[in-house]
Amino acid sequence: MARRPIIAGNWKMNNTPAEGAALIAALKPLVKEAKCDVVVCVPAIDIPAAKKAVHGSRIRLGAQNVHFSEKGAYTGEISASMLKECGVQYVIVGHSERRQYFGETDETVNKRTLAALNAGLIPIVCIGESLEEREGGLTQKVLDKQIAADFAGVEDFSKLVIAYEPIWAIGTGRTATAEQANETIGYIRKRVKKLFPGKNAGRLRIQYGGSMNAKNAKELMAMPEIDGGLIGGASLKAEDFSVIVNFDK
Ligand code: 13P
Repeated sequence: MARRPIIAGNWKMNNTPAEGAALIAALKPLVKEAKCDVVVCVPAIDIPAAKKAVHGSRIRLGAQNVHFSEKGAYTGEISASMLKECGVQYVIVGHSERRQYFGETDETVNKRTLAALNAGLIPIVCIGESLEEREGGLTQKVLDKQIAADFAGVEDFSKLVIAYEPIWAIGTGRTATAEQANETIGYIRKRVKKLFPGKNAGRLRIQYGGSMNAKNAKELMAMPEIDGGLIGGASLKAEDFSVIVNFDK
């Protein structure tokens, strides 16, 4: 079965609730003929306004983080069931910014991934190497470690999405070439299949992320291994994001 493409915006810490609602309102008519899954991952505080704004459209809602416990004394955190009740269907887990600035580890990424799956959310789990690691020839080794640790205990890979985001390409304007991204994503798929036999890895969707924009999306999306994109900066402009979503036109 063909894997359905998925284009997701990661707004990061941008857009107040009102700004977010306005962006979605502008986006709606531009993506109404999209052939792929379209997701906007918004700041948690924006979720109720965004939920109203996406009503009647094919845009789905995502969050940017989730705690692994169901409830309890975790000041400032948000559980999977809270997100679910607010109409969220996707959640980014283990973004490199969270690993870098907020102490996220492979162990907590794994716990958050399992908690999201348990609650019926679709995790978009981010993995990828740093510039130093790529230049040192360590890309596959780094990915092997992340794959083994982040996905331990996952029973069905059709229910999650991996975003391959080379850290050196995030917000830098330096995109991986389509060939580089395709090759690495192909490697990730092979590795998941090998490490997790019988867990539906054939239906796993893998996105590319890192300076993907209206200009390079078509070329990246034409690659056989690339099933979608996780878009930062270019998801903040309705016109740019819609060009990426309509990559097949
Ligand atoms: P940019 O598209 O701004 O490089 O960000 C990529 C990203 O981190 C998406 O999660």
